[in-house]
Amino acid sequence: MPSAIGLDIGSSAVRAAQVTRPGSGPATLDRLGQVLLPPGAVRDGEIADPEAVVEVLKTLWKRYGFKGRKVAMGVANQQVVVREVDLPYLPEAELRKSLDFQVQDYIPIPVEQAVLDFHVLAEHEVDGNRLSKILLVAAARGMVDSVVAAARQARLQPMLLDLDAFAMLRSLSRPDAILAGGEGELLVDAGAAVTNLVVHEAGIPRFVRILLMGGNAITDSLQAALGISHEQAEGMKAADLTPGSDEASLVVERAGRFVDEIRGSLDYYRAQPNAIQVGRAVVSGGASQLPGLRDRLADALGIPVDRGHPMQELKIGKVGVDPDQLAEAEPYLAVAIGLALGATE
Ligand SMILES: Nc1ncnc2c1ncn2[C@@H]1O[C@H](COP(=O)(O)OP(=O)(O)OP(=O)(O)O)[C@@H](O)[C@H]1O
Ligand SMILES: [Mg+2]
Repeated sequence: MPSAIGLDIGSSAVRAAQVTRPGSGPATLDRLGQVLLPPGAVRDGEIADPEAVVEVLKTLWKRYGFKGRKVAMGVANQQVVVREVDLPYLPEAELRKSLDFQVQDYIPIPVEQAVLDFHVLAEHEVDGNRLSKILLVAAARGMVDSVVAAARQARLQPMLLDLDAFAMLRSLSRPDAILAGGEGELLVDAGAAVTNLVVHEAGIPRFVRILLMGGNAITDSLQAALGISHEQAEGMKAADLTPGSDEASLVVERAGRFVDEIRGSLDYYRAQPNAIQVGRAVVSGGASQLPGLRDRLADALGIPVDRGHPMQELKIGKVGVDPDQLAEAEPYLAVAIGLALGATE
């Protein structure tokens, strides 16, 4: 039975999820673990202090007893770009071989310093020319190498590297959205420093945005404005604040910027000539729990916004966590579970 461990190195914590997929029936969540990172070890989704990250990865393995050391890892930071690109039509295998020679004009990094990947979105014809429309992913090799190196130093074996956005697409896209088709769904994973957006149609990604924005900005501004500790600011953020108080106004203002950024990205997508209708949104990630955020997002986007459930299609095995803890952990697991699901396909 294929079993895989998804490993998510976030800006605030490192998490892993082990999933087993039997020949038939639902995949099972077998194990889960999370260890917080010291501040600054991962900045804006990039490893800034490799030794600290390696230590935390070792702790994660020691503490939770994952079976095996092979991992599927994700990336989401400024060193990776995702673009929709039209290339002369080629069958997928040949397209892959020729990618290096075709995409330099579309990416901000020299091709020889990039790791490339793509999803075919469509074949179409423009002025009699047959084209392949692809979603091109280009990641800076140095950044990818640092992720792989950190895992190896913790004696893990990276087998697969994926975009966090594609991982969350696997765990968060709802089965009925996939079945219904015709209408798009916006998925949002809002973390500490990075927010991933994906518009998909029946499980196929149409648009991906990686925003350098997350809950840290709100914590930092509370800390600075009120002269309080990081921990106090974190607690304040998660609490129901008295409307009109200084702290409440700060959070509202910051959350407003957050919502504006997401709306801006969706507006950009909606203005594309071949954009599909986006009928609803699903949010996940620690920062999606900010009180009132979902309602504000629904107002701004003009569509219903629901909480994501990355375990929706999983059978829960002996994870060693009681149901309440599991429910509490759920918002943090979309990427790790999605990575594991991708590696068992
Ligand atoms: N109840 C809550 N209310 C408001 N914010 C919360 C709450 N719980 C967690 N957060 C915020 O969520 C953020 C952490 O989210 P998450 O763990 O998804 O990020 P990450 O994966 O570590 O980082 P990255 O941004 O790289 O994805 C922090 O900014 C934290 O303050
Ligand atoms: Mg994250």
